[in-house]
Amino acid sequence: MLQHLLFIGFSAIYYSQSAASSQRRPHLFASLALQEAEGSRTVAHIRTAKSTDIPGWLDEQMQRHVSDEVRHAQIFTKAVEREGYFIDLESEAAQQSLSSVGEAAMRRYHQVEDLAAAPLPHLLASVLLAEELGVRGFRCILKALPEHLGATRAAIASVLQDEERHVQYLSDALRYFRATAVVDAYRRDVESKMFSDLGKVVEFLTRPAAERPSLVQPGHKPELSLL
Ligand SMILES: [Fe+2]
Ligand SMILES: [Fe+2]
Repeated sequence: MLQHLLFIGFSAIYYSQSAASSQRRPHLFASLALQEAEGSRTVAHIRTAKSTDIPGWLDEQMQRHVSDEVRHAQIFTKAVEREGYFIDLESEAAQQSLSSVGEAAMRRYHQVEDLAAAPLPHLLASVLLAEELGVRGFRCILKALPEHLGATRAAIASVLQDEERHVQYLSDALRYFRATAVVDAYRRDVESKMFSDLGKVVEFLTRPAAERPSLVQPGHKPELSLL
């Protein structure tokens, strides 16, 4: 319980501070754009790899989920541009970010070469955890985001609505597969891993923006695409 509260507390501090600061906001939006693009690829991959296990109703939701995440990646890319920056896909931070989220991270977590080797409910449980974090994160961001960023606020509010739907259908799917215990176990595992790295987390949160590896550069480079 304590770990759970600390976990929520630290993520809330991170998202709120980043959304409120004009210096950190472009980087936050860029990291979300990469996560959303990677999220879309991950769900698409699960959908193909486990197609024989996926009932029709779930497949429809997953297909919609894939296109939602593509839209979210575009929304955050646009939000970075509105701040006067572009996402530097060549940066070390971008490469690090891509290996720490999405399919690569999921393969490491499930210790499989290919996601097809892991049971479908386990994969869905990992996606559900990421979606829950997304819902919490976007709520914090919306609270902390300055009022004058109207277009970005409206776009993120629509992202939040989609994420809430993703949490809903994935929770339904885990009940359908009688696998809700899997997600509870993963949640505890992820939180305890973070708890054991508490020193690193605090260091990350307190590091000045100028010293953080950046995903963005000032200016425009519209020809680059994440998808
Ligand atoms: Fe999303
Ligand atoms: Fe989502």
